Amino acid sequence: MTTAQTTLTETIAALDARYVLPVYRRQPILFVRGAGARLYDEHGNAYLDFLAGIAVCNVGHSHPHLAQRIAEQAARLMHVSNFFLTEPQARLAQKLCELSGMEKAFFANSGAEACEMAIKVARKYANAVKRTPEYEILALEGSFHGRTMGALSATMQAKYQAPFQPLLPGFRALPRNDRDALRAAFHERTAAILIEPIQGEGGVYPIDDEYLRETRALCDRYNALLILDEVQAGFGRTGRWYAFQHTDIMPDIVATAKGLGGGFPIGACLLRGVAAEVLQPGEHGTTYGGNPLACSAALAVIEIIEQEGLLENARRVGDYLQARLRELQASGAPIREVRGRGLMIGVELSQPIARAVVQRALERRLILNAVGESILRIVPPLVITPADADEAVEILREAFGEG
Ligand SMILES: Cc1ncc(COP(=O)(O)O)c(C=O)c1O
Repeated sequence: MTTAQTTLTETIAALDARYVLPVYRRQPILFVRGAGARLYDEHGNAYLDFLAGIAVCNVGHSHPHLAQRIAEQAARLMHVSNFFLTEPQARLAQKLCELSGMEKAFFANSGAEACEMAIKVARKYANAVKRTPEYEILALEGSFHGRTMGALSATMQAKYQAPFQPLLPGFRALPRNDRDALRAAFHERTAAILIEPIQGEGGVYPIDDEYLRETRALCDRYNALLILDEVQAGFGRTGRWYAFQHTDIMPDIVATAKGLGGGFPIGACLLRGVAAEVLQPGEHGTTYGGNPLACSAALAVIEIIEQEGLLENARRVGDYLQARLRELQASGAPIREVRGRGLMIGVELSQPIARAVVQRALERRLILNAVGESILRIVPPLVITPADADEAVEILREAFGEG
């Protein structure tokens, strides 16, 4: 074959196969451009993206305001180190505290790092404040907190943990939404509990408001920290900045990432009360964390969400999409349950065909994701319209029909 006949996709697929460590199961599709809720391949084919870079591109792909703010900041100042003040970091910390009700921010570069930081705070809190060296950190079965060793130790799924044993000691798994088990698990040596308000990778399982309330009360009673991992559910996805804001509880620590940078890598830990006083200078840090470029990106994301009313849109179009999916279920599609909040939606199928459905949808240029064999995860950009939702539901209908 001559060079002229080889597509860019084929060239890149060959390079990828030859040089990139194959830890991802990758589709042989090359995206070269994105705008709003669409991704485009080299031939100009448009794909409707209901995965949004795994709940990351909340303001849509390459939003002009986000791109402009990144470009401006890149031209002015990208990185300084945390030995000095920078304006975007301080302004972003202020903004995140205001919109979450938390008091302090620590900046990292990913969701796992944000969780790792939260775990370190819990461990030092147990050692230095509670003075309970034999402490426990509780986490829920089916959770996902990241792949660094601390976050992995809190990720209560055997498929992620098994190859990397032994893990960090001190973690204990609880069944989700089981309030009896919750009550039974708490004691004086409980340092913290780590919860995703809606479990994402585990299959889009919302944690009940009552469960969260009782967890807050138990944390108060036993002086334990309530850590919410809002890496996936946070930053507007459920129709509020953070999913816990649908309830009346306040966490002690919030881990946030993904949508925060809209595609630019950034994570943060937000802390409040005693949790904000645990770490002293020199006890934690990271070179890139909170650099001007990442923080400018996050500030631009916040401006877009506010200016375009994307929290409201996530609620409105999320409700609409869930209603349309339930119609699809009622019309005989193999759907057992539609669940979630805003634009974090899980579709549990009545057969283990999630991966095949994702593949058939992709052939029709709709990007979805399967978590496990029988659950579809739908986490589109928050900019989608009801027409986009209709388009996706029609493609899903066809994808089911083909089975
Ligand atoms: C709830 C949750 N926490 C933590 C992480 C880890 O984030 P990252 O992949 O940015 O390290 C993820 C990633 O999917 C997540 O969904």
